[in-house]
Amino acid sequence: MKKGPVIAIDGPGGVGKSSVSKRVAESLGFKYINTGAMYRAFGLAAKESYVDFKDDLNLQDYCRDINIEYSTDTGRIMIDGVDYTDRIGTDRAGELASKVATKPSVRATLSACQRMLGEEGRVVMEGRDIGTVIFPDADVKIFLDADHEVRAERRRDELVRSGAEPSKVSDILEERDKRDASRQAAPLKQADDAVHIDTSSMTLDEVVKKVLTVVNERLNIGNTGR
Ligand code: DC
Repeated sequence: MKKGPVIAIDGPGGVGKSSVSKRVAESLGFKYINTGAMYRAFGLAAKESYVDFKDDLNLQDYCRDINIEYSTDTGRIMIDGVDYTDRIGTDRAGELASKVATKPSVRATLSACQRMLGEEGRVVMEGRDIGTVIFPDADVKIFLDADHEVRAERRRDELVRSGAEPSKVSDILEERDKRDASRQAAPLKQADDAVHIDTSSMTLDEVVKKVLTVVNERLNIGNTGR
């Protein structure tokens, strides 16, 4: 049960959820929680522990003993004492994340962790299923979207900024979006009561301002600069 306001920001890959969510959290003085980072770190950690993603029992066993630490102060993510923060930005991590994210045992493990992190409230949590599954009673739900090519361009920029080599970005994004939206367990979809924002022709500043306006209307907090 949440004890304070939760702002859920969901949407497909490359839409700019992290940049927007961070800025919104900063502006409100809320904590920022990146649930995609947890799936990414989990994917890397499971792979490095030789877990067979196709073997459900193997995955379930791995989930049972795992220790996940996510710092809402620094955003650093540790699994079983290993810090994955600096390695989660790659395409490989994204690919592994999208694959393990289809598995109910993995979702149950990470969902429990995410609810615990968010229940104190005063958080902005971003992901794919925050408004639909993790906090269906979130105070504000935003669904960010953009045309495929715009998202591919944003993802390219993101990879370049993080020092990675962007290749086949558009195809990879399409494949991942399909997998995220078509899986049985908590697929990517907009909550019925979410505010849909098409960010295709908006700047980051404009999106942040729009989200803060919605937050302000719902909660009467947040300076929209109007
Ligand atoms: O947001 P991201 O690109 O870091 O997410 C990586 C993958 O993790 C994404 O393809 C799907 C999965 N994910 C998820 O299933 N549910 C979430 N709440 C967040 C991420």
